[in-house]
Amino acid sequence: MSSCELNQSLDLVLSFLNKEDKYTVLIVDDEENNLQLLKRTFRGQYNLLTAHSGLEALEVVKQYGDQISLIVSDQKMPQMEGTEFLRKVRETNPQIIKILLTGHVDTDILVSAINDCDLFQYILKPFEPEELKIAVDRGITKYSLSSNNKMLYNELRDLFYKTIRSISNSLDAKDAYTNGHSLRVTLYSMILARKLNFDKTYLEDIEIAGLLHDIGKIAMPQSILCKNGRLTDEEFIVMKSHPAIGAKIVLNIKKLQTISSWVKTHHEKWDGTGYPDGLKGEEIPIAGRIIALADTYDAMTSTRPYRKALLHEVAISEIKKWAGVQFDPKLAELFISLEKEIDEARKNPEAAYEKYSILGKNIDFKITSEASTQAS
Ligand SMILES: [Fe+2]
Repeated sequence: MSSCELNQSLDLVLSFLNKEDKYTVLIVDDEENNLQLLKRTFRGQYNLLTAHSGLEALEVVKQYGDQISLIVSDQKMPQMEGTEFLRKVRETNPQIIKILLTGHVDTDILVSAINDCDLFQYILKPFEPEELKIAVDRGITKYSLSSNNKMLYNELRDLFYKTIRSISNSLDAKDAYTNGHSLRVTLYSMILARKLNFDKTYLEDIEIAGLLHDIGKIAMPQSILCKNGRLTDEEFIVMKSHPAIGAKIVLNIKKLQTISSWVKTHHEKWDGTGYPDGLKGEEIPIAGRIIALADTYDAMTSTRPYRKALLHEVAISEIKKWAGVQFDPKLAELFISLEKEIDEARKNPEAAYEKYSILGKNIDFKITSEASTQAS
């Protein structure tokens, strides 16, 4: 370890031991006098890291990037200019707020530096320490707000995810025969949808729709839902109302409005013989067609009160047989081509869900700082 690295490490350890709740600021300047002046300006207020060049500073960022909130860098340095260093930081650690100290007054150069480096602010030299202090405090405030927003967003997202999962689990638990059904339908739908080049938001909606596709069963009488045998015609009429009821339930929740028509159409059939509306072919939203396929495969490969589970191979041959009749023929073909992945997910759904879930994972934000100028 070089003496510089040792200093950095000691700096950081001491900082965190003594002032663990303070923000960390990296100061980069090739002139030792300037560096000391800057250190004196911020000492006590922030945890400080220092570097004498862009290259050295990059090493510091590589090591402590997650802990650094703000960088103050001089522009004119040998080997690597401040803008080049900050541009590299922007790529690896976009959340860090960046302030540039420069002697340049050329507006074009400054504007392109602001844009290229995602500068929060530049300070023209010479400057008063108090002026820099104000800029750094503002930058830290922005960093803190962004971090808190990010944390709050992910907390809300996690709460939403857990709520959806618990509703889904409660639905499945209403009937011993449907245990794990919604999760498996979600998995098969996601495996299929991933191959169709939908964007992440759409895939996340498919995930939610899979988990909630049977939410309308909340309104079904337990005597019908858990009947130990085939349903009578009257009972089946009641049961057939669950997609429309489910669609209404989710329509009331803004975040779930997109999936309402998907929930409603998960029992429609390609040839128009499904329910509730007897929609045909591409009248059925593609997500509805995907969930219908996943739902039927899971129904076939699960034990029911009136029959035993079909083998995976038998269920696949049934899908082949009913492609273009009950199922969208292209989706059925895709499903069959993915049968190995689907069979694996069926055997170990929790592990597969860990792999495919989008909703269950936090968003990794790219925080960008709004550039502002000293003059503005
Ligand atoms: Fe259903």
